[in-house]
Amino acid sequence: MVLILLMIMEGEPVNVNEFQELARQALPKMYYDYYSGGAEDQYTLKENVEAFRRITFRPRILVDVSRINLSTTVLGYKISAPIMVAPSAMHKLAHPEGETATARAAAASNTIMVLSSMSSCTIEEVASSCNAIRFFQLYVYKNRDVATQLVQSAERNGYKAIVLTVDAPMLGRREADIKNKMILPPLKNIEGLVSTEVNNRVGALDASLCWRDIGWLRSITNLPILIKGILTREDAIKATEVGVAGIVVSNHGARQLDYTPSTITVLEEVVHAVGGKVPVFLDGGVRRGTDVFKALALGAQAVLIGRPVVYGLAAKGEYGVRKVIHMLKDELELTMALSGCPSVKDITRSHVRTEHEKIHSML
Ligand code: FNR
Repeated sequence: MVLILLMIMEGEPVNVNEFQELARQALPKMYYDYYSGGAEDQYTLKENVEAFRRITFRPRILVDVSRINLSTTVLGYKISAPIMVAPSAMHKLAHPEGETATARAAAASNTIMVLSSMSSCTIEEVASSCNAIRFFQLYVYKNRDVATQLVQSAERNGYKAIVLTVDAPMLGRREADIKNKMILPPLKNIEGLVSTEVNNRVGALDASLCWRDIGWLRSITNLPILIKGILTREDAIKATEVGVAGIVVSNHGARQLDYTPSTITVLEEVVHAVGGKVPVFLDGGVRRGTDVFKALALGAQAVLIGRPVVYGLAAKGEYGVRKVIHMLKDELELTMALSGCPSVKDITRSHVRTEHEKIHSML
């Protein structure tokens, strides 16, 4: 209690949401809007967070929780907690050290960072800045040679998996960026390969990408392929059929198609369709350790966090990102203790109650 009071007096944030306000104060409005905004009416943006709040707990008591183990494995890599860094574009808009600072924070937190294709530091710079386990997020451009070069560079530089983003055949309509006349700085990984003019960049994405292209991607890399952006059982089944190594349930942080459901409400549908064949991950709206617990209870192996990382980076650089991850880990640990779960594998479906179940029980 005394510690919490001291932290408040010193202006230190006590939760991830408070980092958002610090980021707002630290950033030019155009960049803050770019990071925080969602597509069109921003219905899904709000829902991603709100839907977590509608899930409640069924805590179990009198379990020995004197030692809590948060660690888990992702594609065979042991990480300190089921919380990873989602790919997000252009970290240098948030902090001069950009993705290298984020990567060092991920390494210090002993977790995995997914580097965006649209990063402001290169694949090589991030690789040499730290020993974090890194995955590489891929956008496929019309010129397929660019994807080949990116994937092979990631492989050469020790990235352990390719995360193919499949919900962005075109970039979503983010109205704050339109109003602000948001200008993107050069994208280091694709400079000179794809036109870096803002309007062309949208057109540079390959909108013809489809299921059979997973075979093409597999032909150019030996790395495992995760597919990011699945929201339905139909697509989850297809993904397992084409042999991906994992699925990320994601609506791109509500930046693409507005009025998609929140990710936490469709997680179970995907998990059931996949039937344990490959691990399922989730991102979108995770702001609390309780959110991480809820996602795990509904079948996710781990979550990824997007905006919280960027807010931490904008507010306090590498330290801020470490702090954000640390806060979520701390909160998850407490949630597990108070729910009677000494390790992540003890978290089960029966530990949470969804809104759907509440409504059913009232009928
Ligand atoms: C993103 N996201 C994203 N995803 C991706 O595959 N490639 C990218 O380059 C980006 N860029 C990006 C920029 C910014 C500013 C944000 C906020 C997000 C989406 C990201 O990986 C993730 O799906 C969401 O951020 C998760 O939602 P939360 O945690 O931000 O609510």
